[in-house]
Amino acid sequence: METNAPKRRDNKKSLRVKVISLGNAEVGKSCIIKRYCEKRFVPKYLATIGIDYGVTKVQVRDREIKVNIFDMAGHPFFYEVRNEFYKDSQGVLLVYDVGLRESFDALDSWLGEMKQEMGSQANMDSIVFVVCANKVDLTKRRVVDEGEGRLWAESRGFHYFETSAQSGEGINEMFQGSSGPKITPCVEEQAGRPRCRGQASAHSKRAGEHIRSIRNRQGSWSQHVCNLIGLAVNLPVTWANAMCSGQLSH
Ligand code: GTP
Ligand code: MG
Repeated sequence: METNAPKRRDNKKSLRVKVISLGNAEVGKSCIIKRYCEKRFVPKYLATIGIDYGVTKVQVRDREIKVNIFDMAGHPFFYEVRNEFYKDSQGVLLVYDVGLRESFDALDSWLGEMKQEMGSQANMDSIVFVVCANKVDLTKRRVVDEGEGRLWAESRGFHYFETSAQSGEGINEMFQGSSGPKITPCVEEQAGRPRCRGQASAHSKRAGEHIRSIRNRQGSWSQHVCNLIGLAVNLPVTWANAMCSGQLSH
């Protein structure tokens, strides 16, 4: 009995999931996360400066899941801060504003930036991408219709959701509802690789160091200040759940 005890404890070690948000400035990335995590909407635009970082824990079955959310600034000015945070991502929220065609057209360049920083296609293939066509509440100014957005997403094997951070439409579904069964196999496959946990842990350490280094450089980086904000109380449980299932099935 006693010899089994340490093994059982080891099985219950926490898993880490890393999710990033990408898309042009002002498309609503932070508001989507805030809507899901805090159930509220902030109409005033508060640009993300560099990165907003939040980590929180959830319990899925007997497993503790730590979800690290890196909410990236969309402004080109922050490229140097963003590029440190792409590696080891397991989930990506790719967001555009349905009323701004340029934000939709920019999705390819966001993928391009990510690919460049990830280094290899193999890494990209194991990531779960979710496209958010955001601000669907603003129906009169809509210029990118659902068909076009969905085609772009699904032709790349990405999931597609119509969302409004303002009304809440599509937000829960995107994070945990109908997306679950679709993205589970993909994330499970990734979770099944033993190196994933190590990589994610290693990344968290590196990310933490980088955040600290940015903060220490605030004098010269006065506008690159990295906000450490506890974003989430609740979580994208879908990802967490999927990771957990993957680990438990191996
Ligand atoms: P950066 O941090 O600069 O990259 O911007 P962001 O993509 O995080 O945008 P943010 O979430 O800060 O939202 C930008 C503006 O759009 C804010 O004024 C929000 O209130 C507004 N907004 C976000 N989502 C919605 C939405 O679904 N509907 C409407 N009507 N407004 C939204
Ligand atoms: Mg933001």
